Amino acid sequence: MPANDAKNQEIINLLIKSYNAEIETVMNYLANGVNLEGIRADHIKDSLMADVEEELGHAKRLAKRIHTLGGVVPGSQKLNWTQEGMQPRQDTTDLPAIISGVIKAEEDAIAGYEEIIEVCDGVDFVTQDLAIELLADEQEHRRQFIGYLREFEK
Ligand SMILES: [Fe+2]
Ligand SMILES: [Fe+2]
Repeated sequence: MPANDAKNQEIINLLIKSYNAEIETVMNYLANGVNLEGIRADHIKDSLMADVEEELGHAKRLAKRIHTLGGVVPGSQKLNWTQEGMQPRQDTTDLPAIISGVIKAEEDAIAGYEEIIEVCDGVDFVTQDLAIELLADEQEHRRQFIGYLREFEK
């Protein structure tokens, strides 16, 4: 356990922020994983649907950690929704728009885990270890979608 209550609360708040982002990612990857259409859409859809499971797995691990540290896992009314770039488009064949939204969501997730890693340093190694693992996953997701975007930039 962290050395003092204020630090512990700071870590819980950051975990909740990342939990919120993971849950929003699940919603938006699921929606776009169904909505997208067109000849080149199938691969992106499969990739988004596979990530829905992974991001839900992240949310579960964050929730458990919040509980272990003495925090309360929030419900929907305590969460904020901010992923503008991931909102489904009127044009369901606009793959680059959604791919760019995914890259932004992954970058935000990466920034969140990097912050947790720094705040936990020397204080809470278990949370730090979790954040390092999730950070690695998000970096892989980001790289995958950067590759998809390349194809559209030719
Ligand atoms: Fe995630
Ligand atoms: Fe991700």
